[in-house]
Amino acid sequence: MKMIVVLCLGILLLVVHGCFGEGINRKSFPDGFVFGTASSAYQYEGAVKEDGRGPAIWDKFAHTFGKVTDFSNADVAVDQYHLYEGDIQLMKDMGMDAYRFSISWPRIFPNGSGEINQAGIDHYNRLINSLLAHGIEPYVTLYHWDLPQALADKYNGWLDTRIINDFATYADTCFQKFGDRVKNWMTFNEPHTFTVQGYDVGLQAPGRCSILLRLFCRAGNSATEPYIVGHNVLLSHAAAFDIYKRKYKAKQNGRIGLAFDAIWYEPGTNKTEDIEAAQRVQDFQLGWFLDPIMFGDYPSSMKTRVGERLPKFSKVQSALLKGSLDFVGVNHYTTWYAWHNSTNIIGVLLNDSLSDSGSLTLPWKNGKAIGDRANSIWLYIVPEGFRSLLNYIKNRYGNPLVIITENGMDDPNSPFISLKDALKDEKRVKYHIEYLRNLLAAIKEDGCNVKGYFAWSLLDNWEWGAGFSSRFGLFFVDYNDNLKRYAKNSAIWFKNFLNSG
Ligand SMILES: *[C@@H]1O[C@H](CO)[C@@H](O)[C@H](O)[C@H]1NC(C)=O
Ligand SMILES: *[C@@H]1O[C@H](CO)[C@@H](O)[C@H](O)[C@H]1NC(C)=O
Ligand SMILES: *[C@@H]1O[C@H](CO)[C@@H](O)[C@H](O)[C@H]1NC(C)=O
Ligand SMILES: *[C@@H]1O[C@H](CO)[C@@H](O)[C@H](O)[C@H]1NC(C)=O
Repeated sequence: MKMIVVLCLGILLLVVHGCFGEGINRKSFPDGFVFGTASSAYQYEGAVKEDGRGPAIWDKFAHTFGKVTDFSNADVAVDQYHLYEGDIQLMKDMGMDAYRFSISWPRIFPNGSGEINQAGIDHYNRLINSLLAHGIEPYVTLYHWDLPQALADKYNGWLDTRIINDFATYADTCFQKFGDRVKNWMTFNEPHTFTVQGYDVGLQAPGRCSILLRLFCRAGNSATEPYIVGHNVLLSHAAAFDIYKRKYKAKQNGRIGLAFDAIWYEPGTNKTEDIEAAQRVQDFQLGWFLDPIMFGDYPSSMKTRVGERLPKFSKVQSALLKGSLDFVGVNHYTTWYAWHNSTNIIGVLLNDSLSDSGSLTLPWKNGKAIGDRANSIWLYIVPEGFRSLLNYIKNRYGNPLVIITENGMDDPNSPFISLKDALKDEKRVKYHIEYLRNLLAAIKEDGCNVKGYFAWSLLDNWEWGAGFSSRFGLFFVDYNDNLKRYAKNSAIWFKNFLNSG
């Protein structure tokens, strides 16, 4: 009898376990592993004209006709500037340990440099203090794409070396004002993405490019500017890391990371030339920014292929860069195929960083997609690619400390889906289960040194050029009714995942 009861209980537990976590929960991960959600100032805050904030390059871009697919802008976004208290309660109710958000540079320095805007400091003090009061650890990004417009007007922003000092001063100010409470910093979010999207293909602010016979951008040079921008971003990162190390680290005892965007590239075939092509695309993506920080220089494939257009690091700069990182933040969403380029059409039409890599990348092969697609045209669901990427980072960079700073998927914002149905996001639940399962295998079976996971995103929000047409949130935001937040099934799934086991 006793045996049967025990057996039944066991089966029941197994069933419950299966329903909630499909076998995984917080306890499956090592002790101290951090779970959180991620966001960014520009996509969340709104209040773009309040409390002395200066304009950002994205304000100008979003208000330029034709740049945002649904003609929306982020003037209000999801109004977290005012609604943060309620949002923190949502995180707490789920059982999240941490929150990744970004500080808006033009709130702290409305002109990019010069006088500090105290009202901006006050806002982030309130946000940080409220998070800590709720037991939620702040993970803070300094630059998540909202460059002060004043610096674009003054010297073309990231294209000019003067940005390095201005960024360093901004970073120094944030360390000084918030570093007593913030212990985890990321200097940049996705440097590769904003470099390529902003200065190579022109689809994001400031919208500079020269591809396709200059049909799309008024100014820019896709063959040179991305490399100049990337170079200044790297030197800005190194300057901020150095300031922290010299002035704050001993007292504040925090860590400096950077959130890299990393698609996994699977060779299209097992031919050597395609395997090499997949490596080259990785060099031109993750390697472009992580190699200089780990090794002090760009990948050799970039140096060979870009030649004189790739700026060089001086000995001093190289030494400053090398080792300037306490953790590798990884923003990972998807996997694509890569092949060796066998025609030069791409080179002639684009003459940009993609053609420099000499590779062709696509999310399908022989008419078949690499995985199920989310809403975004680039986001295919390939959970095993996550594990491959983590192993690649472990092997190439000596198993550094990694924190997954973004991972998630989007649904369309359709006027034809009822609120009730929009909350049933089973596809997102499955996405997180499968990606977390691969993350766990990378940690436990492959020995990858990963210590945290941030889901993108807490709320539906303003997705850059896609505006409000894409919903990445664990919580649904009702854009027709005062931006009310509703838990989707994925938020409930995370709550069970974090509280069971
Ligand atoms: C920003 O620059 C403008 C124009 O140069 C100036 O009037 C204003 O006082 C500056 N504001 C701050 C906060 O530095
Ligand atoms: C690509 O652009 C660079 C820089 O503007 C230029 O020097 C080069 O001639 C261009 N190459 C082609 C194939 O158009
Ligand atoms: C490449 O080889 C591996 C191992 O032999 C195999 O699993 C994989 O399916 C092959 N890939 C392709 C695209 O043929
Ligand atoms: C692409 O391949 C063609 C043919 O193999 C070659 O002539 C061309 O230089 C390549 N282009 C790039 C950008 O590597």
